[in-house]
Amino acid sequence: MILKLVLLSLLFCANTFAKQPVSGNRYELLSGIRKDRNTKAFWDTKYSEKRYVYGKAPSSFLAHNYTFLPFGGKILDIGMGEGRNAVFLASKGYKVTGVEISSEAIRKARMLAREFEVRIDTALTPLEEYNIPDESLDGIICFYFVEKNMNERFMKWLKPGGIVIFEAFTERQKSVKGFDPSDNGALLKESELLKLFPGFRILKYEEPIHERDYRASIILQKTKESSSAFKKVKK
Ligand SMILES: C[S@@+](CC[C@H](N)C(=O)[O-])C[C@H]1O[C@@H](n2cnc3c(N)ncnc32)[C@H](O)[C@@H]1O
Repeated sequence: MILKLVLLSLLFCANTFAKQPVSGNRYELLSGIRKDRNTKAFWDTKYSEKRYVYGKAPSSFLAHNYTFLPFGGKILDIGMGEGRNAVFLASKGYKVTGVEISSEAIRKARMLAREFEVRIDTALTPLEEYNIPDESLDGIICFYFVEKNMNERFMKWLKPGGIVIFEAFTERQKSVKGFDPSDNGALLKESELLKLFPGFRILKYEEPIHERDYRASIILQKTKESSSAFKKVKK
């Protein structure tokens, strides 16, 4: 009798849980997409100091390679930060929009744009909630913001032939003194970046191992096969 009762209550519990909608936290765990309520607070605090945390100068990979982006094109800076890369591209004649979760970052990016007398557009929103029409961008730049599960979504926004410039730290960066894991999003495995954008044409790839920082940088071009290639990899 007792065994029967235990079995019945177990069945009841299993049924109740199966019907429950996927909660925010569980969604994050299942999908790998971080939607942490603290993310904004973390970055706002980090950027609240007066100095530019990542400096005012663009990433050197971008400064050396920005001409891969179609001249004067519409560019999205994903996880723009304080605007060092967005302002640099605007100064070179590009129409740049930066998406950012941190209002402090946006405030400083706008200040930087004023300092360099250029215009940038900004969107203060978590990327998970940002949306624009497919094939509306000439280029996407993404520096030190790694959300592997969202790549397919972002890449739909690129026109065919559009360019991606992406850079992030690799796992070797853990060995660098002062490394802060909360700062830079996910770390890339060796050569992983070469596989994150299936169907894209790789125009340039760098993964230097004898510099102070360990990063991987890539320039890609969207091809006709890019969208279907993402789907094939997922199967
Ligand atoms: C390591 S910083 C890099 C900033 C900038 N790309 C650079 O290289 O200077 C990562 C940035 O991503 C932003 N970020 C983090 N999670 C985000 C989200 N879910 N949506 C939009 N921005 C986000 C943070 O506010 C932060 O500015």
